[in-house]
Amino acid sequence: MTGTDAMTTDRHLYRITGGAPLKGEVPVSGAKNAVTKQMVAALLTEEPVTIANVPRIVEVDLVVGMLRQLGVDVDWTGDHEIRVEAGAIADSGLAERYTGANRIPILMMGPLLHRVREAVIPLPGGCQIGKRPIDYHLDALRQMGAEVTEQPTAVHVKTTGLVGAHITLAFPSVGATENIVLAAVLARGTTVIHNAAVEPEIIDTILMLQKMGALIEVQTDRRIVIEGVRRLTGTTHSAITDRVEAASFAAAAVATGGSLEVIGARQADLTGLINTLHRIGGGFAETSRGLTFYRARDLTATSFRTDVHPGLLTDWQQPLVLLLTQAAGTSVVHETIYEDRFGYTLQLREMGARIELSTACLGGDACRFANRDHAHSAVISGPTPLSGRELEIPDLRAGFAFVLAALVADGTSTISGTRYLERGYEDPVSRLTAMGGQVDTVPVG
Ligand code: EPZ
Repeated sequence: MTGTDAMTTDRHLYRITGGAPLKGEVPVSGAKNAVTKQMVAALLTEEPVTIANVPRIVEVDLVVGMLRQLGVDVDWTGDHEIRVEAGAIADSGLAERYTGANRIPILMMGPLLHRVREAVIPLPGGCQIGKRPIDYHLDALRQMGAEVTEQPTAVHVKTTGLVGAHITLAFPSVGATENIVLAAVLARGTTVIHNAAVEPEIIDTILMLQKMGALIEVQTDRRIVIEGVRRLTGTTHSAITDRVEAASFAAAAVATGGSLEVIGARQADLTGLINTLHRIGGGFAETSRGLTFYRARDLTATSFRTDVHPGLLTDWQQPLVLLLTQAAGTSVVHETIYEDRFGYTLQLREMGARIELSTACLGGDACRFANRDHAHSAVISGPTPLSGRELEIPDLRAGFAFVLAALVADGTSTISGTRYLERGYEDPVSRLTAMGGQVDTVPVG
């Protein structure tokens, strides 16, 4: 199955029987949201860039396909190592089949503008978690000297040369920050991003760019200053581990009443998560290889809001919500990054969870979704037993929450939409089985 087929078709369903605690050890993959951007950063040089700790997931296959279509040499040089050599760029347009694929093509605008002066980029489209516009990306590129023409399914950009600019983001967007950094490293003059995002995956990509010869300073006040240089060179880089995957396994250990050594988990990237688990009743210990997570006591309710880094990551919200269905008392979760990221809870309710959604900003300060009619707060009452049923995954992160729900539920669940989960988690079935989960696959059809 190619990367694009895997976007639309499940390879199989999962059948999961709940009740077994997850135990043992599990290695964490490299971070999807760092690696895929680093593969794009490799377009900024004609020399080879080797990236290690690359997860074997559909999302990476998709980016490999995109780069190859542009005429770039991409080879797997190890189980988890990839070599990208953009000696020449044969094509400045990405094929229409990538429309709606993911957010990666929009990050190619800057590198392609530097290399071939123009690009046709298919639009990412909205998705199950919100509208996800790209206005910040396009405004920033315009400020840097790109001519941007928006078409119904694509955007056409061209330039006679990108120049540095002072850009203030209305919200610290991860993708827009990355886009500006990738456009600014080879631009003429200095670019300053005000209100930039500083997620660990962005910093990791900045570290790689520094090895390539870029001049980037990350300041304490959400300011990133990029001094354009004339050329960048090849490099080798090992991507950081995936803090979303690490959090998923941590939540799985606590939810199932087990204990898991998450090999490669980094405490520094997980401090907010660890605090939240601690409040709920999860414990952790450092090991020579990572962090062990376990259930320390009976689970109790807590409240939190998702936020930009160093706040609690929105991609941790779903496994934590599932955990809170098993905690005694009432929890409030306020999602402040995406306007529509609780849709998946309807299926958890059908399993027995008590979750009420609200359009109000519950549990603390108002966010930018106040008075806009988005159901972006959840009130969870627990503990509630869950019962196995048929589930359909709507997006990647909800997918793991469903797997977790099935692992704690009475009886057996059959899960479809597994293609979403497999975009971001390497080999989930064998890893869950190795931890003691009763999981197998069922052919589709
Ligand atoms: C990245 O998405 C991640 N994706 C997301 O992970 C993650 O949830 C998100 O950052 C937040 O940490 C990738 O790295 C591929 P944003 P991104 O721009 O960059 C609004 C996963 O499952 N916004 O920080 O698209 C936007 O609508 C995914 O791995 C605009 O309004 O996120 C959202 O409400 C899901 N205009 C908010 O900003 C813009 O031009 C944050 O989005 C750009 C963003």
